[in-house]
Amino acid sequence: MPAEPLSETPVPVPGADAARARSVELEREIARDPGAFRILTGDRPTGRLHLGHWFGTLRGRVRLQDAGVETFVLVADYQVLTDRDVADHLDAYVRDLVLDYLAAGIDPARSTVFRHSAVPALNQLMLPFLSLVSVAELRRNPTVKDEIAHSRQSAVSGLMFTYPVHQAADILFCGANLVPVGQDQLPHLELTRTIARRFNDRYAPVFPEPEALLSEAPLLLGTDGGKMSKSRGNAIALSATADETARILKGARTDADRHITYDPEHRPEVSSLVLLAALCQDRDPRAVAEEIGDGGAALLKKTVTEAVNEHLAPLRARRAELAADPGHVDQVLRDGNAHANEVADATLTRVSTAMGMRA
Ligand code: TRP
Repeated sequence: MPAEPLSETPVPVPGADAARARSVELEREIARDPGAFRILTGDRPTGRLHLGHWFGTLRGRVRLQDAGVETFVLVADYQVLTDRDVADHLDAYVRDLVLDYLAAGIDPARSTVFRHSAVPALNQLMLPFLSLVSVAELRRNPTVKDEIAHSRQSAVSGLMFTYPVHQAADILFCGANLVPVGQDQLPHLELTRTIARRFNDRYAPVFPEPEALLSEAPLLLGTDGGKMSKSRGNAIALSATADETARILKGARTDADRHITYDPEHRPEVSSLVLLAALCQDRDPRAVAEEIGDGGAALLKKTVTEAVNEHLAPLRARRAELAADPGHVDQVLRDGNAHANEVADATLTRVSTAMGMRA
């Protein structure tokens, strides 16, 4: 396997600036009228969520849910099959993901948590949707290209090229009009909008054209200075114990300068640790760095460890409680799947009626 570059620049995505500007407006509209929005978000179940997920997206979803926006949260189990053989762990990963959601504050009384393999009508939308896009459009998707470039597999599956169409079904089946995403997901959302538009033009106006709500993910690096990722073993899982957290941070890469500063450009590893402490304490990273000053890497790591453990303590306590009752996760998914199925069945009826496939 080729060596991973230490710091990674995200794939350049056209339209990111416009999406960012629009997101500011959208935030204002949400504050004014949360009931006008329906959100769908989701993750691939590939392991436990980490601090990058928490500060990047999860916290924001909980905030939107709490603000009164109707929320669908998808455990994207089919999407895992794009790139790896997961049959072994899938059930455990789904369970971990749902536990992380619930511990983070996703409330099943207000949000629909479901997995797409449990919603047949959602998956059936993939067929008409595939007919609405060209192979050339699928090949152009920069996020898919990047995933193929980083893939460990020798052959590219058909699902790899078509999963963005499946993702359109994830979003459109429930008529979501808002999708909180990071930059890398913008091409998928653009395709979703194209599919909605083409379907509406060709058959009947069934789908809203969803908009992206860009979340500004803070640049948190893994403890090795590379991109934070569960598969690289350089991330702190939300569910890690306080001792595991201390151990992982103890091994974090820093640099030779004892004086701690916040300087992401020149000192990425040190600055990422400072930022993590600052995020946990809801402070300015410069103030955190100044306080540590000449305390060096040892004091920096001690500070970060305490900040992370304190910040996550309530979440971890909730997670442990929830995990002690395995029936609870099953029930949450059963209820969420049932609701998603009702919504998907109604959408599929409208779709097949519009296409002349009923009666
Ligand atoms: N592609 C997303 C990811 O890799 C997961 C996902 C699947 C998703 N379906 C979605 C995200 C629909 C937003 C909307 O993280």
